[in-house]
Amino acid sequence: MSKQKILITKRVYPDAVEFLKGRFEVDYEGTNAGLGTEQFIERARGCGAVVSQLTDKLGAEVLARLDGVKVIANVAVGYDNVDVPAATARGIAVTNTPGVLTETTADFAFTLLMATARRIPEAHAFVHSGAWKTWLIDLLAGQDIHGATLGLVGLGRIGAAVARRARGFGMRILYCDAMAAPLELEKELGATRVGMEELLREADFVSLHVPLTAETKHLIGRAELALMKPTAVLINTSRGPVVDEAALAEALESKTIWAAGLDVFEAEPKVHEKLLALDNAVLAPHIASASVATRRRMSMMAAENAAAALEGVKPANLLNPEVWK
Ligand code: GLV
Repeated sequence: MSKQKILITKRVYPDAVEFLKGRFEVDYEGTNAGLGTEQFIERARGCGAVVSQLTDKLGAEVLARLDGVKVIANVAVGYDNVDVPAATARGIAVTNTPGVLTETTADFAFTLLMATARRIPEAHAFVHSGAWKTWLIDLLAGQDIHGATLGLVGLGRIGAAVARRARGFGMRILYCDAMAAPLELEKELGATRVGMEELLREADFVSLHVPLTAETKHLIGRAELALMKPTAVLINTSRGPVVDEAALAEALESKTIWAAGLDVFEAEPKVHEKLLALDNAVLAPHIASASVATRRRMSMMAAENAAAALEGVKPANLLNPEVWK
């Protein structure tokens, strides 16, 4: 019997490719470019599985043109790039990579929080430029982290992991979430559930940890930014469209809020022009889960999900179990 075929759309860590090559016929160029829509559809023809990345936009129209694909294994915990209901309607399984990136992403969210509060990118550029002449009382003065109030929007796996880090800094922790966390978790984290408005008014740092859905698109817009303190810092390591980027750029420019640390953007890799010009916008290129170990684990997890589905075993991280009968 000929081997089943798998398409890997973009470069992943090599052990994942080797694992798949041992079992299937693998279509893998290993480039960074990714595939355009037509190329994707063409290359997916005859494949039972696709290992995709968040840069592959797999909307209903694309899914409708796939033939024979049984599983899409996305190398990310977020899956807003795949229309899961449309996949379900076509009987295509969709998987993601939860858990393995929780701690690494929380590390980064906290790193970004600290770098933004204490103005590390500005300080680095200042020293490198040779502009440093003397000690000054207010040179690059930032915001305190210890003892400050952290407002977590979303207390899922990553939000909770950020809260654990914040505990070590003696922060007061507020959160809002559609669902209350179990009491033991609230207790462990010392986290208090509040409404969104209270969180925005009270928090010195607001950190976003929600998936991108129709409900969370522009969750933070002009009105929400206006509620935040002038000394507040916004951190976004979730998805760009959760924040109205134009409204944020205005708030940062007019100092309605103090600063923002952003790892994700509305139209990646494009960044709002105003943000690029502002010192109080600390920007990173969607790297929150990017430690070598974690990105390797994510690659392998996606490969294992794809392999399981092709071998008739329910994948561990199936997002639409209704397709698995
Ligand atoms: C990265 O953004 C992910 O969702 O894993």
